[in-house]
Amino acid sequence: MSMHIRSATVNGVATIEIARAEKKNALTVEMYQAMAGALNAARDDAAVRAVLITGQPGIFTSGNDIEDFMQRRPGEGSDVADSPVFLFMRALLDCDKPVVAAVTGAAIGIGTTLLLHCDFVYVSDEARLAMPFVGLGLVPEFASSLLVPQLMGARRAAERLLLGDPFTPEQAVECGIANAVLPAAEVVKHARRVAERFNALPPGAVREAKRLMRAPERERVLATIRTEGQLFAARLKSPEAIEAFTAFFQKRKPDFGKF
Ligand code: COA
Repeated sequence: MSMHIRSATVNGVATIEIARAEKKNALTVEMYQAMAGALNAARDDAAVRAVLITGQPGIFTSGNDIEDFMQRRPGEGSDVADSPVFLFMRALLDCDKPVVAAVTGAAIGIGTTLLLHCDFVYVSDEARLAMPFVGLGLVPEFASSLLVPQLMGARRAAERLLLGDPFTPEQAVECGIANAVLPAAEVVKHARRVAERFNALPPGAVREAKRLMRAPERERVLATIRTEGQLFAARLKSPEAIEAFTAFFQKRKPDFGKF
């Protein structure tokens, strides 16, 4: 278990809380492992009717830990599909119970990508979302190259995925990534109330309805994830990515002029 992931089940809701505020909730391999374990446990526990994923006040997650990226930990040495981040995202895709996200603050990189695979997304009015993969020398991941253009159209997807422009909570609702914007102090409470509604619904019907809703795109999503994953792993070693990561820790703008 990771000390930076807190999980607990209360009143039918398994809560997975990202708790590494000092690093803006950046996700390490240990944290992905812990989240994958918590999701699989929630799926297998009949007492759990829904899952809630949340962060800390003011920050949902700043995405993958960039130090881990620099050490190429996500897919190093083995098949990318066996890496902790893949196991986590696979557990999210395979979770047949409703997953509700409470986006308590900034959601960067995989912080936004994972929302594409949740069933309900509630966003704090202070949150910012962004998928800055290209600016980091990387490529979109976990089917975002498929799902983002599907959700919002190719033109708006280009702003999000090629330029990496951050977007507001209102824009997240407007383009279909989120259900609603809530005041910062309300977002977790609201998301929990939605999750708790599944205590009053028949779990078998919920499970089958969720599976049906995912089925038409499932094979395409999985195939896209494989293609993106291989490119992403290769890109982590690229000079472009190394320049971007180095610049982040040197607190300067990256210089891609030489490429
Ligand atoms: N990986 C590793 N460390 C991270 C991190 C990440 N993704 N995001 C933040 N941190 C660390 C910073 O290095 C800093 O560490 P330090 O205190 O040892 O210097 C600490 O968390 C606080 O971050 P800071 O940037 O000072 O906070 P901020 O409030 O000014 O900005 C963010 C917050 C989230 C906007 C900013 O941290 C950010 O842009 N992070 C990177 C996002 C990103 O590109 N993620 C990868 C996507 S693929």
